[in-house]
Amino acid sequence: MSKQESLEKLYDDYRNHFEGKEIVLGDGSIDSMILLIGEAPGKDEVRLGRPFVGMAGKNLNEFLSHLNMEREKIYITNAIKYRLSEVSPQTGRLKNRPATKEEIKENMDFLYKEINIIMPKYIVTLGNVPLKSITGDFNASIGAVHGEIKQIYIYNEEFFLFPLYHPASIIYNRSLKEVYEEDLRKLSLIVSGK
Ligand code: URA
Repeated sequence: MSKQESLEKLYDDYRNHFEGKEIVLGDGSIDSMILLIGEAPGKDEVRLGRPFVGMAGKNLNEFLSHLNMEREKIYITNAIKYRLSEVSPQTGRLKNRPATKEEIKENMDFLYKEINIIMPKYIVTLGNVPLKSITGDFNASIGAVHGEIKQIYIYNEEFFLFPLYHPASIIYNRSLKEVYEEDLRKLSLIVSGK
């Protein structure tokens, strides 16, 4: 089975397992050396059927420009591939909500299989949720491990994990901006082999 076929099969299994959810699957170059993993799709992603569009996409593009990288050349996915939402008591409309530990766990195996099909060299996690998914450590905190490269194994295959803050968290916490840009510089040197 080709890489593309394996991925399609996995995504079919995912759709069956999570039937009825607002699903957005991974997107980009399946031969990329870099896999970017976000948390979960939001409203815009569901509407357009692609991860990281709308405001999140704008942040992501800014992030990629620091790395001198084009979006189409990397693969982008989410730790949880459906929208996590709840009804807002204030507006009566759906709003995003954080992932539960059970939801992260239920999605982990799919994510690991996706990684073992794509086989990137570098796994860049954005924020706490994908960090927890990848490490399987629910006490892991991005504040403690961001910007440091770490060798990891998933189903006996070796990868290099580079945890980053979620680009959206920089908007809410401007003091993180410098730290984040320093992490991006490090990542840029690593992926360019310098
Ligand atoms: N959009 C995504 O697809 N993932 C995120 O983590 C945030 C926005």
